Amino acid sequence: FVKDILHYPSIHSTQETAHLLASEQAEEGTIVLADEQTKGKGRLGRQWHSPPETGIWMSLILRPDIEVRSAPQLTLLTAVAVVRGIKESLGLDPEIKWPNDILFNGRKAAGILTEMQAEPDRVHAIIVGLGLNVNQDYFPDELADIATSLRLEKGEKVSRTDVLEAILKEWDWLYRMFLKEGFSSVKPLWEAHALTMGKEITARTPRETLKGVAVGIDDAGVLLLRTKDGKLHHIYSADIEV
Ligand code: BTN
Repeated sequence: FVKDILHYPSIHSTQETAHLLASEQAEEGTIVLADEQTKGKGRLGRQWHSPPETGIWMSLILRPDIEVRSAPQLTLLTAVAVVRGIKESLGLDPEIKWPNDILFNGRKAAGILTEMQAEPDRVHAIIVGLGLNVNQDYFPDELADIATSLRLEKGEKVSRTDVLEAILKEWDWLYRMFLKEGFSSVKPLWEAHALTMGKEITARTPRETLKGVAVGIDDAGVLLLRTKDGKLHHIYSADIEV
């Protein structure tokens, strides 16, 4: 599926560039990759720290023929590809925190930002952004306690190209399987790496804060949380604390 990798030494945000290309009919499988982002964008309007030549900062353009409500499944699929790619290339075993964080012992090594361009209910393009900390050997004070990199986890410098290749290879077969068999084929793989499953969590949604046990995800990729009173809640968007 990977068609074309557009590689920039320094760019504002690969996500913004990919949006622009997608609205100009760029093909599915087009990737925007940067060595540095000067205005990397995280979830919920946050900034994404993207210093030169230390990470994989990339955005991928997809054009699956799916409904808008299925788009979050591609975040989960990408998380599986990242975890498997890291394991394959480095032998490290990170965990996924729903929906999109890749963690080592509670510290974040990668985040995924999925955005879309859609007609009323049909997806026109999905832009999957991946920020993966690879070779940082320190983080600025405000990130020091919550972030990590593959280099810090492995204890040595890591090849960005090897990791990227492994992730794209995993991603390619997962996406083919997703198109052929649907999300139900990806779901068990996601669950196998998910930190949140079966654990007591706190979910801060835009409306409320819920405490309970994460019992799984449904076929749409929505997080299922059971509170003490036995009620099952569907969490579409939240910050999760384990
Ligand atoms: C998160 O907040 O966890 C998601 C972070 C996503 C960052 C990546 S880096 C490549 C792409 N371009 C951006 O500006 N953001 C995403």
